Amino acid sequence: MLRQPAGIAAIALTCALLAVPARSADAPPPAAVPDYHPSLADLMTMGVQSRHIKLGLAGKERNWAYLTYESSELRNAFTRVARTIPVYRQIKLADMFAAGVIPTLDELDAAIKAKDPAKFDAAYGKLTESCDTCHVALEHAYVVIRAPQASSYPDQDFKASK
Ligand code: HEC
Repeated sequence: MLRQPAGIAAIALTCALLAVPARSADAPPPAAVPDYHPSLADLMTMGVQSRHIKLGLAGKERNWAYLTYESSELRNAFTRVARTIPVYRQIKLADMFAAGVIPTLDELDAAIKAKDPAKFDAAYGKLTESCDTCHVALEHAYVVIRAPQASSYPDQDFKASK
């Protein structure tokens, strides 16, 4: 009976020792961690493109629970993009999003809520078009977005769980 508390005490002591800074008094201070300033292309790749793909894949599976979640993730990603890069080439990104992509997300959400496959497909098409409308408007016409034909996420199952 005594062995277990002693074991836990030993683990707690080890953790406490590990938490003590290992730096001795004359060691140089750690270099400051440089700020990472992602570009708009970084944010598009990390936060927007991935979620657009996942919405397309889960949409094919009519996985309404996941779609509810991921649509909100994409909406929030746009909010974070506009917060991180408020102005791009003198254009307020929040205004661009509000005018273009957000109304298509509203439509997508209504379709998801109604669990309506035809409405979902139409709204997903409009969402995808709104990506490229902005790319053309902001002189990136060569960035062309389409509905995904195959999954780039082999470790994630987009089918609805039972
Ligand atoms: C506000 C307008 C706007 C909207 C809406 C928008 N984008 Fe973008 N996107 C841009 C701009 C501008 C760039 C180029 C940024 C740069 O080069 O720094 C870009 C770049 C990209 C890239 C290129 C990254 C690369 O390195 O290949 C991808 C992918 C992308 N967007 C995906 C999307 C998707 C998917 C959507 C819709 C769900 C979308 N974007 C909606 C403005 C927008």
